[in-house]
Amino acid sequence: MARPAGIGSLLDIAIDERVGAPLFHQLYAQLRQAILSGRLRRGEKLPASRTLAQELGISRNTVLGAFEQLLSEGYLVMRGGSGTYVAGDLPDLRPEQARAESAVAPPPELARRSAILLAGQRTRVPPARSTLAPCFAPGFIDSSDFPYPLWSRLLAKSWRQPSRAIVDGGDPGGYPPLRQAIADYLRQARGIDCAPDDVLIVSGIRQAVDLTCRLLLDSGDKVWVERPGFPGIGAAIAASGGSLVHVSVDEEGLDVAEGLRRAPKARLACVAPSHQYPLGVVMSLQRRLSLLAWARAAKAWVLEDDYDSEFRYAGRPLAALRSLDGDGRVIYVGTLSKLLFPSLRIGYLVAPRALAAAFRSARAVVDDQPAMATQPALAEFFTSGHLAAHVRRMRQTYARRQQLLLQAAERHFGGKIVLSPDAAGLHLVGRLADPALRRQGDAKVAEKIAAAGVTVSPLSAYDVGEAGKRDGLMFGYAAVPDGKFQPGARAIAAALGL
Ligand SMILES: Cc1ncc(COP(=O)(O)O)c(C=O)c1O
Repeated sequence: MARPAGIGSLLDIAIDERVGAPLFHQLYAQLRQAILSGRLRRGEKLPASRTLAQELGISRNTVLGAFEQLLSEGYLVMRGGSGTYVAGDLPDLRPEQARAESAVAPPPELARRSAILLAGQRTRVPPARSTLAPCFAPGFIDSSDFPYPLWSRLLAKSWRQPSRAIVDGGDPGGYPPLRQAIADYLRQARGIDCAPDDVLIVSGIRQAVDLTCRLLLDSGDKVWVERPGFPGIGAAIAASGGSLVHVSVDEEGLDVAEGLRRAPKARLACVAPSHQYPLGVVMSLQRRLSLLAWARAAKAWVLEDDYDSEFRYAGRPLAALRSLDGDGRVIYVGTLSKLLFPSLRIGYLVAPRALAAAFRSARAVVDDQPAMATQPALAEFFTSGHLAAHVRRMRQTYARRQQLLLQAAERHFGGKIVLSPDAAGLHLVGRLADPALRRQGDAKVAEKIAAAGVTVSPLSAYDVGEAGKRDGLMFGYAAVPDGKFQPGARAIAAALGL
């Protein structure tokens, strides 16, 4: 059932460049909403990407980026050469979810800035281990190997006869023994010298970013963010009033000189110096020192996002940027989303000493304290050696899977998509070495791969502005079962005619 051109206005799709969220994300969120609310019906055909791009006044690659995401999450399907359709059997559409989601369709009385929240983070559906199709979507870990029996024992033990401190709580920074355990862990693993009182337990890195922005930025203050980068960080900053200045990342990490040229008076810089996302670059010492020198001179702050530094397979990691900071300008944040499992929703922020009390007050205002349910068990997980054992085990699994991915790519891609080993991380970037693939652009290549039932992400989906201009595909490998690398690479090669 073809729908005439003009679907954008029929569905009230509004793309706003002034909103911090990437354009493809805004389109993705609005199409998804239209599907969930039934305005786009199951089996309905979508207009061609070129037509939709023209109608909305955006680039075709932006449309392809949104389609690719919806394809990978199962909302859309490709049918042979005949086009893109709303899936007939939507995987995670339950009636109550559809109702709840349609309730957040933007009514006119919402604030203008609510567009950032509505277009922001997507719900990520983890790849089902049982599906036949390999899913190389980045950002997922293998949570099947977590020691759940041990975890349930620790939870039960801490709640059998809980102390007053556990039941009544009252510390906005979080459960003191957990803050102590994290401070000890960061000293040993990351060279960070901090006191338990500098540590704030948060629900994850994005909450840490949100609190940091509320505390340190006035509305409209400029913030350097990495380009390409993790969209969730940009969305959290924009949602709390920060104005994003996208600064390029090269082989040495964030280009500090570019940041200085474009926004010397920025108030904050967000970086992932240990292992940049998505490029995987480790920030050079020279750049680290320049960044800190800028922060000192400009009285600006640096937020260090250390989201996956535990997953390092070769060599010793550079110590955290925070360990070089003699001026108290670095706010260090980490998460247990990748280390343990994502739904735990526990992360930590290490405040500079002079800001620790302010962070605790801010935390108490927005939400008295972090939920206590898991903190005592986590403290014991850290201090009894279970964390170290789990990280060791997962490191072996992920290192092996990176090798399996490299071998599969080497065997099936004929040098046309080139993956290089990375000493750390949970995904690899495959460079489009073949000029014909480069001409198509990474979004189109990812779309063709999705049509064969395999998911990869185009690197340009993590960039702003010139979507489709990047020449890379992201291959997440952590959640891919060992046996799926070869079939996955073979299917990709067949889809692209490699
Ligand atoms: C670079 C980067 N920073 C931060 C996060 C978010 O972490 P959290 O789930 O703790 O908010 C992610 C998650 O994928 C990430 O890739």
